[in-house]
Amino acid sequence: MCGIFGFVSRRELPVALVVDALRTLEYRGYDSWGIAYEVPESVGTYLAVFKQAGRLPPKLPPLPTSPIALGHTRWATHGGVTDENAHPHLDCTATLAIVHNGIIENYRPLRETLERTGHHFRSDTDSEIFAHLLEDSLERAMTESRLSESPDLLVEAVRQAFAQIRGLNAFIVLHLPSRQLVAVKSTSPLVLGIGTDGVFVSSDAVALVGHADRIYYLRDDEVALLSPDGPRLFDRCTGEPRQPQWELLTLRPADTSLGGFPHYLIKEIHEQPRVIKRILRERLEDARQLAELIQRSYGTFFVGCGTAGYAALCGSYLFSRIARRHVNAVIASEFKYQEHFLTDRSLVIALTQSGETVDVIEAVQAAKRRGATVAALVNVTGSTVARLADFTVPLSAGPEQSVLSTKAYTAKLAILLLVAHILNGSEHVGIDVLWRAIDGMEQALAPATLDRIRAVAEHLVDAEHCYVIGRGLSYPTALEAALKIKEVTYIHAEGFAGGELKHGVIALIQDGSPCLVFSPLDETRPDILSGAMEVRSRGGWIIGISPEPDEAFHVHIPIADVGDASPLVTIVPAQLLAYELAVRRGLDPDKPRNLAKSVTVK
Ligand code: G6P
Repeated sequence: MCGIFGFVSRRELPVALVVDALRTLEYRGYDSWGIAYEVPESVGTYLAVFKQAGRLPPKLPPLPTSPIALGHTRWATHGGVTDENAHPHLDCTATLAIVHNGIIENYRPLRETLERTGHHFRSDTDSEIFAHLLEDSLERAMTESRLSESPDLLVEAVRQAFAQIRGLNAFIVLHLPSRQLVAVKSTSPLVLGIGTDGVFVSSDAVALVGHADRIYYLRDDEVALLSPDGPRLFDRCTGEPRQPQWELLTLRPADTSLGGFPHYLIKEIHEQPRVIKRILRERLEDARQLAELIQRSYGTFFVGCGTAGYAALCGSYLFSRIARRHVNAVIASEFKYQEHFLTDRSLVIALTQSGETVDVIEAVQAAKRRGATVAALVNVTGSTVARLADFTVPLSAGPEQSVLSTKAYTAKLAILLLVAHILNGSEHVGIDVLWRAIDGMEQALAPATLDRIRAVAEHLVDAEHCYVIGRGLSYPTALEAALKIKEVTYIHAEGFAGGELKHGVIALIQDGSPCLVFSPLDETRPDILSGAMEVRSRGGWIIGISPEPDEAFHVHIPIADVGDASPLVTIVPAQLLAYELAVRRGLDPDKPRNLAKSVTVK
């Protein structure tokens, strides 16, 4: 988790630029934030550090300009949420500042040794260790070479310090005397950027928009040295120079702006019809190739976490129903306990918006170790999973900035539905049904539906619990709808397979208990409606999301009948309800407590 960012330039740039970048990266964690920058003084330059617990305030006092700066937004792992534990962290000489994303797994013994040798720690974090390790390595490298502050010595020192730590980590180091940054990583992402104003480095390319024209995704076996004259790349093991292959940054400011919406969550919910259109325009050939891979495999696994895990589950229903094919949907963090079936004929398909979820990365690595083929449905195309996979289908959803995943979810469903139809030899049916789904989504987003959802939100605003049921294709929808509600409203929402009601859940129903019922016009309708009636008879307040009304519903939210594409449409009112509830409860829809969008630690 955590977002890190830095720049170095030939001229002085506003330090506020780092703060703006941190706002873009805040989806990675918002427990605390901090910046460090060079202050040129007649008496000698020094590093100014400003950091504090809590979110970035909307307004900050004016910040100066500087030729070099870095910053951090934190999702706390080791050490509580305090000002001292906020990054950047300094070494004892206060000439090195570091920002960190990850966990240094062997931090205890390292800290003990460093303290014994006289290092003074100011925080409880694992991260600060790296500043002190680097201080030692730099001193050693300088003594050994008897040269001072040569750029390559800095790289050498970072290589040595990084070799001593264990875990998945990314660092940006600011070295004041040489006015340079160093970037180094293992699995956690880092992107370099070059623009007319200078050189930049960030956890995510979205924070480089407006600054860089060309970008480069740093690899695990590389170290980047960023100086005012430009970036240089080195092999992390040998120290040999390397040549990066720069690519154009295609993201534009409009992709990352709110575009007139009050929050990213509602903006991204509204973008969904456009994303599905883009998939139909751009991803058909990819879907065909994925279908071919599935055809050739002996055993297909879908893996994902959270929302992506529910997309995987929904995919398994779509494949069974449309392609008559069994696939295994496994939660990525559980995959390692089930990987024993994998062979070199297996196909593992990773579903992930960010491409950086550590459990998904580990599942992919396990699959590769066993010789399986890996495919990925991934939104961030330069991400770790995209680079590890043998074949990638980009979700084409554009940057998803709200912590809650919405458009990446329906994008995954659209691609899986297409692939299932291609496997069945009915590609044109898949395309038609997706066009119907686009219309259905637009109807679900229209003011008439929204009014009904707002009325439901008024009714539920003080609810403590909420139940969600669906069957068949709508069972994953029930799980995903409950996840959306609990993540952003903190109402205890539980999704169930409708048939499980009588096996325990119904004991929880009392007078006024809200229950969302997904009832598309498919074979699940009679049974889900009788389940809804049973809840109603026990006092439950029933909200039916369905193309047709029913006597079981207290409130009916009408949606279009779109056949097998129903999961793409039925989820939309639930996403809107979660948003409307969050707003009414005075919560930030884009940054729910304790969560982060990119879960890069275990
Ligand atoms: C976090 C996010 C979820 C997301 C999950 C998987 O928990 O809050 O919205 O579904 O990670 O993320 P991925 O990037 O792998 O899809």
